[in-house]
Formats: sequence, C-alpha cells, structure tokens
Amino acid sequence: MGLGKLLHDHAEHADVGGTIDHPRAYELAAEIGFLGRRREIFTRLAALSGVRPGDRVLDVGCGTGYLTRILAPIVSPAGRVTGVDASAPMVEHARRRAPGNCSYQVGEGQALDLPDAGFDVVVSSLAVHHIPAAERGAALREMFRVLRPGGRLLIAEFRPPTNHLLAQLVGMVSGPAMRHSPHDLLGDLIPAAGFHVQDEGDLPVMLSYVRALRPST
Ligand SMILES: C[S@@+](CC[C@H](N)C(=O)[O-])C[C@H]1O[C@@H](n2cnc3c(N)ncnc32)[C@H](O)[C@@H]1O
Repeated sequence: MGLGKLLHDHAEHADVGGTIDHPRAYELAAEIGFLGRRREIFTRLAALSGVRPGDRVLDVGCGTGYLTRILAPIVSPAGRVTGVDASAPMVEHARRRAPGNCSYQVGEGQALDLPDAGFDVVVSSLAVHHIPAAERGAALREMFRVLRPGGRLLIAEFRPPTNHLLAQLVGMVSGPAMRHSPHDLLGDLIPAAGFHVQDEGDLPVMLSYVRALRPST
C-alpha cells in the first residue's frame, strides 16, 4: 500500500477527492515530503498571503492546522485565524494545538458555514485537489463569498516534477495528489469565481501558488 492510499482513504481517483483521516501519519508524511523544509516553505506561503496584524484569516482544508499556527502570531493580537476541514480527526488534531486566536470547524470548502465578507484573507494549501472536481468551482465561489471586497486569496497546490519518470514515481508514492499540475486542477476556476488573478509562482519542493483579489467593487 502506497503512502497515498494510507493518507487518502477515499481518494483513489483524483476527481473524486476525499478527506485525510490520519493526522499523525499526515504530519510525518509532510515532514518527509517537504524534505525537512516544511516550516520554511509554509512561512513563505504565509508571507505570500499578505496577512497583516489584525487580519481575519480563513484556511480552507486546514488539515492539522499547520499553516494556521504559522499565521496566528502574524495576525495577533487582534486578528484571528479560522480553519475548516472536512475531516473530524484532522480538526480535532488542530484544536488540541490551537493558539488562542485560532478556531476550527468541520466542514466542506464547497459549502462553508461562514458569513459573507467576514475575512480579509483566505488561504488554501494542498486542499483543492481533495475537493471533488465537480465541486471545485463551488469551493472557489465560497472563498469569494466569505472574503470582504478587496480581500486576498492564496491557493497553493502540488507541482509534479517535470521529469516524466520522476513524476510517475512521485505519483505512485503520493497517490492521486500529485498527478495533476495546478493549471489542470484550477483551470479558470479562480477568475470564473469573480477573482482578479494577481500572480502565480513556484516554491521549492514541488509547490505552485496563485494569488488573487476579490475586487473592491
Ligand atoms: C493534503 S491535506 C492539506 C492540509 C493542509 N492544508 C496542509 O497544507 O498541510 C488536504 C486536506 O483537505 C481536506 N479536505 C478534503 N476534502 C475537503 C473538502 N471538501 N473541504 C475541505 N477540506 C477538505 C482533507 O481532509 C485534508 O485535511
């Protein structure tokens, strides 16, 4: 059984999506997968998201809350970070480690139980490929809905190696997670949801990101 199968109980096919229900195994896999550079890479993601003190931040598909715990001290003391994940065990893991200004809820990115325009920044790392393909557009529209006008979006996804053999090897180990490029995965979903795409780029160890704005008017 590959690591991908262990982590993605319900996700043998990339279009189906599925939760991760083994937080400790996920944490271990992430530390190994990012070659010991996870903290550095996620600190860069936090900086790229443009979060500032006082911001209200939402992390969609927050998993174990790793990124929320990096964001929490940046927005402190007045800001707060909310994490949403479809997996109860992941949310429970995140809650047990939560700084005072973080809260979590079990829920799906495509149907957020959150008010309109309540966030300054929405981030989502490595989670869109877990949302069923047919629901990804709805998830982007939900991110748009909960952002205030002028609010900022950061989506980070896996970027498979360009070397074909290496890409196949990584796909075998990781399962469906790393078989699609972020462009295949996201297509025009971000602008179609109403966002203005600002820029996109790559980060070390197989990540790509897109930054976008909810227009002010
Ligand atoms: C690869 S993990 C990424 C976790 C975290 N964002 C990170 O970067 O470490 C993907 C997460 O998406 C969650 N997930 C799956 N389907 C989801 C959905 N429809 N809505 C929200 N989260 C979902 C999974 O349970 C899992 O915790």
